[in-house]
Amino acid sequence: MASQPDSNKNVQSGATLWHGRFAQAPAQELVAFTQSLSFDQQLWSFDIIGSLAHVHMLGVAGVLSSAEVAIISEALNTTRSEFESDKFVFLDTDEDIHTAIERRVTQLCGDVGGKLHTARSRNDQVVTALRLWCKHNVALLAQRTLGLVDTLVLRAQQSGWGQDGIYLPGYTHLQKAQPVLLAHHLGAHAWSLLRDVERLQQTLDRLDVSPLGAGALAGSSLPIDPAVSAEKMGFGKVFANSMDAVSDRDFVAEILFDIALLGTHLSRIGEEWVLWTTEEFGFAHLDDGFATGSSMLPQKKNADIAELARGKTGRLIGNLTAVLVVLKGLPLAYNRDLQEDKEPLFDSVNQVSLALSALTGMIASATFHPDAMAQAADMEALAATDLAEWLVRQGTPFRQAHAIIGELVRLTHETGSSLKSAVVAHPSLGPEAAKLVGVGVGVQQRTSPGASGPMSGASQQQLLNIEIDRLRKLSK
Ligand code: ARG
Repeated sequence: MASQPDSNKNVQSGATLWHGRFAQAPAQELVAFTQSLSFDQQLWSFDIIGSLAHVHMLGVAGVLSSAEVAIISEALNTTRSEFESDKFVFLDTDEDIHTAIERRVTQLCGDVGGKLHTARSRNDQVVTALRLWCKHNVALLAQRTLGLVDTLVLRAQQSGWGQDGIYLPGYTHLQKAQPVLLAHHLGAHAWSLLRDVERLQQTLDRLDVSPLGAGALAGSSLPIDPAVSAEKMGFGKVFANSMDAVSDRDFVAEILFDIALLGTHLSRIGEEWVLWTTEEFGFAHLDDGFATGSSMLPQKKNADIAELARGKTGRLIGNLTAVLVVLKGLPLAYNRDLQEDKEPLFDSVNQVSLALSALTGMIASATFHPDAMAQAADMEALAATDLAEWLVRQGTPFRQAHAIIGELVRLTHETGSSLKSAVVAHPSLGPEAAKLVGVGVGVQQRTSPGASGPMSGASQQQLLNIEIDRLRKLSK
């Protein structure tokens, strides 16, 4: 990492890019409070891309000569190599990454470097670099999310979509409801993550607009062409309104929402794995590499990844809230408050990426316990709905069938007798209906489209794969 500014030193007069208007050097307290270099350093490569495009555009527009464009571009490329080899040196007077780079370019190429900022403000420069950063990182995030989907789908496939697939109780209200295929359960999480991927891609499409050329807020009196720099940077569109261009952070809020919801999905997955890996459930155990121990209790093996996937979602939601609150009171156009967009954004992207990788590894390496799952799912009462539907097939109205089976279940609780024998003995049910109560029978029963069961397993698998292929193509 390049060297950090030393905040204890006095700032020299005349060292900032805007010193002309000021008779005195900035106070140290001001510098300490307003700097953003400590967190916006990671924008360096995108700032250089933006500056190269800007200089190119100034050349095309005839504002700079081709010799000037060549000199400034070379200095920008040298600066890029300095960052790449960790040799870039920051000064105490560098307010943010953008001023640091312009300062270095001017050092490298002399007075002509002073032309780099022609018809540009930090207001359009900052948001250009930030949009480029987002294009790069949101695409990576979509890929990472697809990586977790792949793992869920692989584990689903291994656990079986067919008649001998692993099954477990499906829950409502965390009470056992009906047996479901493990593949179907894992597939449900895959679907929520696929919506996250689609949402990230839609956000990417919307943020693909270049704000460069908007200037401080009102554009420029020089003959610049924002479309030229936009194309050079690979943006799909150019801003239409300069004031909107410099003040719009919708894309930051949108990404933070996408991540907060993605995090919410990861949190729900995490919560289930915390339960599944308890002794009480015993549905799965974690690979040693993806579990943690206790400093005092020698026997413990904890699902800390699953817990943190759940816990970190608090801050992902907080980051979204923080940015919305920053934005809500801002008059047009640029306000320094907007500098507060970066830390929540960087934090959310970073944390959710870590969570995705850790959960992917945890789920890929975990072991399922089909016997414990089956035992929990083979409780006789879980056949209740199938029995009611059997009565419906005999012509009984569902509400009546529901009451008959409900009473039978109550009876078994009161008498301690088995549901199967009660079904056999019941005048409206009998031995044929009793076949629905038995080990591994329930999970085979549901046949409707989108249902959990071997009959729809093949189409479930196919639907997932089609959606994965579609989204993977879009993210290329
Ligand atoms: N570091 C600031 C930011 O991230 C730079 C913008 C400063 N612009 C200004 N007009 N003071 O927003």
